[in-house]
This record gives sequence, C-alpha cells and structure tokens, in this order.
Amino acid sequence: MGKDVIIACDFDSKEKTLAFLDRFTEEKPFVKIGMELYYAEGPSIVKEIKARGHKIFLDLKLHDIPNTVKKSMAVLSRLDVDMTNLHAAGTIDMMKAALEGLTREDGTRPLLIAVTQLTSTSEERMQNELLINASINDTIVKYADNAKKAGLDGVVCSPLEAGMVKSACGKEFMTVTPGVRFADGEIGDQVRVTTPAKAKEIGSDYIVVGRPITASEDPVAAYRRCCNEFIG
Ligand code: C5P
Repeated sequence: MGKDVIIACDFDSKEKTLAFLDRFTEEKPFVKIGMELYYAEGPSIVKEIKARGHKIFLDLKLHDIPNTVKKSMAVLSRLDVDMTNLHAAGTIDMMKAALEGLTREDGTRPLLIAVTQLTSTSEERMQNELLINASINDTIVKYADNAKKAGLDGVVCSPLEAGMVKSACGKEFMTVTPGVRFADGEIGDQVRVTTPAKAKEIGSDYIVVGRPITASEDPVAAYRRCCNEFIG
C-alpha cells in the first residue's frame, strides 16, 4: 500500500478547481472531490479530473438505508473513481450493501472506506449531543471494527487515531487521515489534528490535506512540503 498525500479540492466551481490544478505542472496529485464541488458541478467534474490523469477520492460520505446506499454506490462505481466512502454510523448492514453496490460486474471496485467520527467532533460533543456513552477512542475503534467486519478497506480518522486503528484492525486495514496541519499553520475548525511528519510516524496510509495547501499562497510548495514530511 503506497503512502500518498490527497489534496482536498474544496472549491465551489469547476473553474476554480481546474485553475488550482493547472498550477501543478510537474506532479499529478491524488485529488479529493467532496460534497461542495460535486454538488456544484455534478459527475462531469469527476470525469474531467480523471481524464487529466489524477487519482480521485470521491468523498460523499453516504449515510442512508442499505438499499439506497447500495444503488447509489452502483451509480458512483461507474465514475471510475479510485476511492469513495460512507459513514460507519450507518451500520454493518449498510456498509455491506454499499460494497455490493460498488462492485462492478467484472469484480473490480474502488476502495471503500468508512468515516468513524468526523475529525471536527470532540469527545465532549459526541457524548453530550450524540449521547454516545463511551470514549471517542473506543467509539472509533468499534466503528473501525464494524467497517472491517463488513469487508471495507479501511477508515477515515484523525491521524492521532491511526495507530490504535491499526492495532485493533491490522496493519493492512487502511487509515486515511484528514485533520493535518503544518506545525506553524492555522487549525481552523478541525479539532483532532497533527502534522504530516507525525501522521507518518503514527502510521497513516494517506493524509487528506485541504486548506494548508488550497489556501496557501504557493500551493505547489505547500503540497511538496506535505509530501516531503509525509512520504520522505
Ligand atoms: O481544509 P482541511 O485540511 O481541514 O480539509 C480536510 C478535508 O477532509 C475536508 O474536505 C473535510 O470535509 C474532510 N474530512 C474531515 N474529517 C473527516 C472526514 C473528512 O476533515 N473525518
């Protein structure tokens, strides 16, 4: 499993996204397309970025009844993305249904990972607002184990949790980790964050980096800094 830096392209239009990607003349970064861009531009933006040669993580975080998720995943699998995701909170049945929907007739499918708890959620809010009467770490490990039982490839979690997920689910079980900030950068609305270098040390397979690259004055330099710290 190759380690890589995935850039979260959280833009609201095709023009802004392509202008951003045009700045990368030497590299073809792995790109994350999330809800903002997908809802603004639809499936054509996925096809266009794919045609430019980028790998794509389609981050739509599905969470609905199993039948709806299965059918939606079947549609998404035709977009030829490399990775997609859902919320583990949808239960093991929903995750199994998603995997079935995602698998193409020839048996191939994009990687499927589950969100455990969003990296913007603190333990206090999880307990007080969601009434989950457990520690955030136990909740994350339990959700990761559910995802593994359903046959998924890994989870999205904070880099701070990658080590404990690997210990519980095995080192082949992928950890894709947003919530990454440079040591000298802004945290923004993220709560459970760490640096690319520390994420590497803890064992993340992929880091997902948005604003530290997209809002940087020199995104290419920021991307290279991430790659240097994370991949070496
Ligand atoms: O700008 P920033 O680096 O905070 O972007 C992180 C990206 O990762 C955003 O697109 C956000 O939606 C996504 N994400 C997250 N936490 C999760 C799952 C996805 O921050 N648990």
